[in-house]
Amino acid sequence: MNQLSAEQPVAILFVCLGNICRSPAAEAIFRRLAEQRGLAERFSLDSAGVGDYHIGAPPDSRAIRAGRAKGYSLEALRARQVCQDDFKRFDYLVAMDESNLRTLLSLREQEGGADLESEIELLLHYSDCSSRSVPDPYWGDDSDFSQMVELLESACAALLEHLLAKPGFAAAPR
Ligand code: 4NP
Repeated sequence: MNQLSAEQPVAILFVCLGNICRSPAAEAIFRRLAEQRGLAERFSLDSAGVGDYHIGAPPDSRAIRAGRAKGYSLEALRARQVCQDDFKRFDYLVAMDESNLRTLLSLREQEGGADLESEIELLLHYSDCSSRSVPDPYWGDDSDFSQMVELLESACAALLEHLLAKPGFAAAPR
């Protein structure tokens, strides 16, 4: 669907409900994967929530802990809500679950819909995982957060491979 340009970083917004568990973890994990491949400059990354409950808050302490256990740093991130401008700024809006996806699609309709070129998809769409959604760990315990990190690691790796395989991306490695 969308054409990648070798000149512009690929802008990806990771989206969940509260922006304190799944999407900040996905942002941190994808950032490190890109850095490990020497591709940090090729991406512009952010995360946001469809809900407004936690605006300005740091990630959930359990998400910080589960991330830290695998070497990811989430502390500095602060929650924000998806805004209409995101549909213009980001090439990819990547939803953690089907409810987030539906909300994004409906917000995009309000913004003028079809003319906007950003791709809105589930994160797990890009992986061969059998489930479609990253389970919400908010009401769970530490083991749910550890499982979240593991699932996000494989899903973000799959998303990165998907993007690297796109013709516009491969044309001009930096
Ligand atoms: P997230 O998890 O969407 O992965 O950040 C949640 C965070 C907060 C709430 C629900 C899910 N909440 O209901 O406040």
